[in-house]
Amino acid sequence: MASRSLDPNLVHARMERMYRPQRLIYDLTRKWYLLGRDRLVDSIAARPGERVLEIGCGTGRNLVRLGRRCPGVLLCGVEPARSMLERAERQLAGAGLTQRARLVYGTAETIEPMRDFGVDGFDHVLASYCLSIIDDPLPALERALAALVPGGTLYVVDFGSMERLPGRAAAAMRAWLARFGVRHRPEVREALRRRAGAGEGRLEEAEIARAYAEILRFSRNLCAGA
Ligand SMILES: C[S@@+](CC[C@H](N)C(=O)[O-])C[C@H]1O[C@@H](n2cnc3c(N)ncnc32)[C@H](O)[C@@H]1O
Repeated sequence: MASRSLDPNLVHARMERMYRPQRLIYDLTRKWYLLGRDRLVDSIAARPGERVLEIGCGTGRNLVRLGRRCPGVLLCGVEPARSMLERAERQLAGAGLTQRARLVYGTAETIEPMRDFGVDGFDHVLASYCLSIIDDPLPALERALAALVPGGTLYVVDFGSMERLPGRAAAAMRAWLARFGVRHRPEVREALRRRAGAGEGRLEEAEIARAYAEILRFSRNLCAGA
């Protein structure tokens, strides 16, 4: 059977089912437990003319935050839940950012920068609490890396191993996340470590709140083998 994350129609249906009822309260409620998003988004030093892609951009709150701080940056997002995408469109419009925003109804596993956004690649790609909800996050990770221009950076913030939280708290949190098909994905960090080890780029790792969450920053080399 095909993996759920590789069948875009199933992803669209599953995400729409999950997020449609929450789209209006999403930003308020997630503020308290999607830790590290603002820290990571605010660390993206995007210059005018550069291009940013967020995979799984949800309501667009990260793109709006980035767009307000970084003038002249192209803000792109891909999102499989139609209702979240519509919310992102409205939020970007409300912030006066429509002119430099491009949103696509799709999945991270299938993005093609030129076909979907009319650009040959991205200087910055963000995955904020997105890879942990994808059944097999590695194809999405591969696409995100392939979408980077040489010298570009991938930024990941997501749930961590929680191994340094008190046992009961970690178990309760893991059980709650599992209800939504969300879990820590150590394979993402391992894949990036392998690439860094192979000399393809530089990886920085940071832990948030006793491994509740983690931040990964992978900067692709300017030229192959550099
Ligand atoms: C927890 S939300 C995070 C939203 C946003 N990035 C944020 O930080 O608020 C996860 C998002 O990933 C999206 N998503 C799920 N599967 C995806 C896939 N295969 N490709 C791209 N996005 C996906 C969901 O629809 C949802 O909007």
